[in-house]
Amino acid sequence: MSYPSGDRRIAVLEGVDCSVRAGTSLSIRGESGCGKTTLLNLLAGLETADSGTVAWEGTPIAGLGRSELARRRGRFIGLVFQSFYLIPELNAADNVLMAARLLGKIGPVERQRATELLARVGLADRAHHVPAHLSGGERQRVAVARALMNRPRVVLADEPTGNLDEATGEGVMTVLLEVCAEQQASLVVVTHNMVHAARTTEAAFLSRQHLRRDR
Ligand SMILES: Nc1ncnc2c1ncn2[C@@H]1O[C@H](COP(=O)(O)OP(=O)(O)O)[C@@H](O)[C@H]1O
Ligand SMILES: [Mg+2]
Repeated sequence: MSYPSGDRRIAVLEGVDCSVRAGTSLSIRGESGCGKTTLLNLLAGLETADSGTVAWEGTPIAGLGRSELARRRGRFIGLVFQSFYLIPELNAADNVLMAARLLGKIGPVERQRATELLARVGLADRAHHVPAHLSGGERQRVAVARALMNRPRVVLADEPTGNLDEATGEGVMTVLLEVCAEQQASLVVVTHNMVHAARTTEAAFLSRQHLRRDR
């Protein structure tokens, strides 16, 4: 992958090969600017690489049209970001339901699932709170519930504890690992935290040229 930079191009993720096996959790560490966010965006089909291939369960995504890609992404992938990205006007339950709404599926079954997921992440009594009335850790738990709403096969989390203090981040990481495992979603989590990185089943270190597997 390369980005324009003045009249040159900056190469990132040259020769990087990253596969995610079903049922695993993979932590990715790496220096700032080495391409971790770019890698997650490529895996999610949010960015297109100028060379190389991304495949979801064996299907290359390059050939999919824009709307088909968005539809498949909504079902296949859950996303968790460092800054939560909740919709400020919606309460926690409606933020979780938003994932289903994007697929046009919103009914009693989905409402029930959103309620259950919120309870699972420890927010049973916060379902009707808007993000402004939730703490950082609570907001990220809502985002974890939202990521899992559509029963994705893979959750991609980009520094999900980066804005949280140590104890709160620890709790969010626990919920993320546990709920992904229970829901049978693979997890790819970018983190600078060695303790968090040690808790995944697989670990890797990314540099501009390659992804080194540590386990
Ligand atoms: N949209 C973009 N346009 C130009 N350069 C970009 C863009 N996105 C990222 N980059 C550059 O690509 C490199 C990797 O960025 P990023 O994936 O955000 O790294 P990380 O998440 O590991 O900190 C950096 O040098 C960054 O400046
Ligand atoms: Mg980043």
